[in-house]
Amino acid sequence: MKAVLIDGKKIAAEIKAEIKAEVEKLRAKGIIPGLATILVGDDPASHIYVRNKVKDCEETGIFSEKIVLPGNTSAGELLDIVESLNKRNDIHGILVQLPLPRHLDEFEIISAIAPEKDVDGFHPVNQGLMLIGRDAIYPCTPAGVVEMLKRYGIRMEGRHAVVIGRSNIVGKPAAVLLLKENATVTICHSKTENLSEITKTADILVVAVGRARMVTADMVKEGAVVVDVGINRVGDKIVGDVDFEAVAQVAGYITPVPGGVGLVTRAMLLKNTIKACKRQTVG
Ligand code: GUN
Repeated sequence: MKAVLIDGKKIAAEIKAEIKAEVEKLRAKGIIPGLATILVGDDPASHIYVRNKVKDCEETGIFSEKIVLPGNTSAGELLDIVESLNKRNDIHGILVQLPLPRHLDEFEIISAIAPEKDVDGFHPVNQGLMLIGRDAIYPCTPAGVVEMLKRYGIRMEGRHAVVIGRSNIVGKPAAVLLLKENATVTICHSKTENLSEITKTADILVVAVGRARMVTADMVKEGAVVVDVGINRVGDKIVGDVDFEAVAQVAGYITPVPGGVGLVTRAMLLKNTIKACKRQTVG
């Protein structure tokens, strides 16, 4: 392998150690950061994600409350729960696990979370603040991507960053956060023509598509930084959106799947929870 491996496990462990120290300082002041997670329905992947989030809280000293609701929960019932969490002083972060069952409007539910408690950074107020470059709570996955690049000393300023994918959760905010770091940003998506012509000009390539191994070695410039956000199940294996083995022979840096962005995303949720807690308490 030619590329340097960007080790998500190591970065996540560093961030979690920093969080633990922050939590201890807050606890010394009588403040216990609290995160509420809401899970509606029985999507198995969502259950695993939420279980991991609760475990991360336990490991770092953050109080967590997990609320599991049946798949037929009405919008009114869910909104009432969000509203009661908005009012609680022991809860500083609220996370509604997505996707929600089809009868629920995700935008309506997310918009009901108090913006200062929106630790996912999905509330339109946080999205808007991010877009205009103001301090806000930024979505965990794209914030994690930037954090990984920074912790490996990878320069973003002036370089061409290409993001494949335009979801509201990853692609679009990743582009905005890379722009904030003064990268020159191109967003590609399913309708993009001549995709590989564009990706071959990327100094930094962020892939968030959800298609197993869709980025092949011929699409990557020699020495590029390749960040793979994909998590795809192929048989009994989890693989990314990047053909890791082949691309690692061309790239300068690469993130693995598993062991890459996913772990850092989890750590960024804890970071957002501490940030939200501090803003609501010590200011
Ligand atoms: N589903 C997939 N990714 C996410 C995420 O980052 N936050 C929430 N709430 N749901 C998700």
